[in-house]
Amino acid sequence: MHIRDVAVDPPLILAPMEGVTDITFRRLVRGIGGVGLVCTEFIPASGLAEDIERCRALAELDEDEHPVTIQVYGREPEALAAGARAAQALGADIVDLNMGCPSKKVCAHSGGSALMKEPELARAIVRAIRAAVDVPFTVKMRSGWDPAHKNAPELAWMCQEEGAEAVTVHWRTRADLYGGERELDTVAEVKRRLSIPVVFNGDIVDVDSAREAFVHTGCDALMIGRGAIRNPWVFQQIRHALFDGPAVVVDASEKERVLLGYFDAILHRFRSEKGALGRWKKISKHFTDGLPHGALLKDDVLHAQSVAEARDRVAAFFERLRAWEAGDADAFASRLAS
Ligand SMILES: Cc1cc2nc3c(=O)[nH]c(=O)nc-3n(C[C@H](O)[C@H](O)[C@H](O)COP(=O)(O)O)c2cc1C
Repeated sequence: MHIRDVAVDPPLILAPMEGVTDITFRRLVRGIGGVGLVCTEFIPASGLAEDIERCRALAELDEDEHPVTIQVYGREPEALAAGARAAQALGADIVDLNMGCPSKKVCAHSGGSALMKEPELARAIVRAIRAAVDVPFTVKMRSGWDPAHKNAPELAWMCQEEGAEAVTVHWRTRADLYGGERELDTVAEVKRRLSIPVVFNGDIVDVDSAREAFVHTGCDALMIGRGAIRNPWVFQQIRHALFDGPAVVVDASEKERVLLGYFDAILHRFRSEKGALGRWKKISKHFTDGLPHGALLKDDVLHAQSVAEARDRVAAFFERLRAWEAGDADAFASRLAS
């Protein structure tokens, strides 16, 4: 799949996620492989334009991190245009507009999914960003504001008319938040109407859900969010099954390698130990899914008081696990008894 001249190969995209998809998490996912495009979390356009340090840090990219999208949000067309220009200057291959965020904080200022209720403002914003950047420009939205107002097909059409070069549609409405009843027809309708690439988003967690989304909607690519936190190997697994690419073995050693590697990366990046530990806990508790005795590791990680303690506990867990896998049935006995 191409977004203008940007190849997205394989057509599997890491979703923008606030507090998750910073440079270290994107490195982790790229290091595992199978992802065709990664994205920053949403960044206030005005903060990027004014070069506020916190916003610039969110937009920091690795030199070899291409293709990469920087996502901006806001409500003022001029501010969004300026933020998009700044994103381009910082090295974004693609600039994306957030029209899907359901958070009250963002919607209260007419940003995020609230724009789906204000199509004329949305049009002015899309037009302003289009005029401001030379790189491809994309829009991410939900299927509508609520189940009675699923206007993604009309809105996506407007985006295409105004020069957007791809749209991503999360099948949920704003009212669904992260619940709702899975409904893929609206995304299929967007795909039927548009000639630009359409990216499907929402609850892709494995090969079966990926296949279903491609088949049911005819979409050009998939965007994966929470599924990639739980299982950052998901891109490789889907690529192997649906495209071409090596098979992936996600055993205990691979989980340990990625978990500790990620730990080192965030320690290096975060100024405070507390911040690094918090971020690591947030991500690593998901890695324990599917591991034998994974609940113990989850507990170990969540209760660690310091970086050193967390590292020691993880190393001890995996040592036990290796012994257990080698046939020592009692390797976890003392832990299970306590
Ligand atoms: C922790 C978290 C943070 C998110 N932050 C953003 C964001 O910054 N920008 C955005 O467009 N969507 C954001 N989203 C929404 C995701 O990009 C995605 O649309 C949603 O999670 C559905 O996809 P999934 O089922 O694959 O997770 C966020 C979701 C989560 C769980």
